[in-house]
Amino acid sequence: MATIAIVGLQWGDEGKGKVTDYFSEHVDCVVRYQGGNNAGHTVVIGDKKYKFHLIPSGAIRGKKVVIGNGVVVNPKILLEEIDMLKSNGIDVDLMISDRAHVIMPYHIKMDGIEEERLGKKKIGTTKRGIGPCYSDKIARMGVRIGDIIDEKKLKKRLDNLFQIKKPIFETYGIKINKDEIIKEYILYGKKISPYVGDTIYYLNSIIDEKNVLFEGAQGFLLDIDYGTYPYVTSSNPVVGGISTGAGISPKKIDKIVGVLKAYSTRVGMGAMPTEDKGKIGEYLAKKGNEFGTTTGRRRRCGWLDMVAAKYAAMVNGIDKIAITKLDVLDGLEKVKVCTGYEYDGKFYDRFPSSPDILERVKPIYEEFDGWDGVAGKKKYEDLPIKARNYIDFISEKLNAGIAMVSTGAKREDTIIIQSD
Ligand code: GDP
Ligand code: IMO
Ligand code: MG
Repeated sequence: MATIAIVGLQWGDEGKGKVTDYFSEHVDCVVRYQGGNNAGHTVVIGDKKYKFHLIPSGAIRGKKVVIGNGVVVNPKILLEEIDMLKSNGIDVDLMISDRAHVIMPYHIKMDGIEEERLGKKKIGTTKRGIGPCYSDKIARMGVRIGDIIDEKKLKKRLDNLFQIKKPIFETYGIKINKDEIIKEYILYGKKISPYVGDTIYYLNSIIDEKNVLFEGAQGFLLDIDYGTYPYVTSSNPVVGGISTGAGISPKKIDKIVGVLKAYSTRVGMGAMPTEDKGKIGEYLAKKGNEFGTTTGRRRRCGWLDMVAAKYAAMVNGIDKIAITKLDVLDGLEKVKVCTGYEYDGKFYDRFPSSPDILERVKPIYEEFDGWDGVAGKKKYEDLPIKARNYIDFISEKLNAGIAMVSTGAKREDTIIIQSD
């Protein structure tokens, strides 16, 4: 039996939802290991579009789904998502870690206030309380799922926490009614309790016998350690996050698939060397429908950045690549790819750690002849030769085979190249 990891190699929204849906056909269990409802993963089946924020996308295929200890959970959103699936005839077979941290109302308020205070230097967060919740986790001031399913425990926890947090709330101007929070969260806890369990023991009990898929959220360049800090999210989307966020040994991850959009997009602030503020950016946004699944914000767009992709492929140690949205490049006369940066007269083939340098590098492009007719193709042989050249170039540069190419948003608009 085998495990597979699906990780985003860029700034999120690479199409992880679609790729996860595809690969989850042959797995028994799909696991989220980090992030929270800042994620928005889309799966399109027929005319129906499903948007997942917390529940792993494998739920659509009726698979067992697990929310691991590394995820931060807004219980209200979780319950809404369970209801949304139920109303579509899907009964969710979910297990959620009692160790996962809970997003509290004050986390969401703090996220908004911190962004406002940063002014021009704001991160451009999703304002879902993700950063403040992870901050509390690391500062040992968090509330866990295990706390909200027990009224006495929650009351004691909040009594203790609020002693420390009172001055912080005052500084932030946040008004808190502890009793109301307890009332609200205990109600959530009651509804969630049938799903709560020890996901670490569960996953380790099935990992050798069943097929398990780990669904990354966000993308490598948003990773708190490897991304464009401070313009990042507060978790570890990198494949190593599976070990800490799901309680699985790195030895148990058999195949790592990196999801790469055929061009670059980014939501929120922070450097993006290949961003095109002109015609091409506009074209990609429109044709690729690049508007956020979670916040509806227009994504910044530009050509594929292979310096960044190589960095992501290296650290994640990818085995295979899933190229998505290749159809969006249909109809362009020329397609460009950034293969290096220039800064201060010097050539860079590495992704710099300094946000100041990254902000000022100039991309060096290689140019490809454009193509047409990728949209909706289901066989590799049916792809135009020039599109195949583009795919081969990516595979060669990242030193990994292509697992699949996505040629449209729908499930069936997919070419499987190496299914092993
Ligand atoms: P995720 O966060 O990585 O799961 O990606 P999102 O779902 O946020 O964004 C990807 C968007 O592109 C969604 O609207 C998908 O339905 C859509 N999509 C995925 N793959 C393809 C593709 O190959 N072609 C096109 N045109 N759209 C795609
Ligand atoms: P999926 O899983 C794209 C971005 C935000 C912001 C930064 C920090 O759909 O790929 P946060 O709310 O996490 O503190 O915001 O991270 N961001 C995403 N961008 N896709 C996502 O998720 C994202 N989740 C967070 O826009 O720049
Ligand atoms: Mg998304």
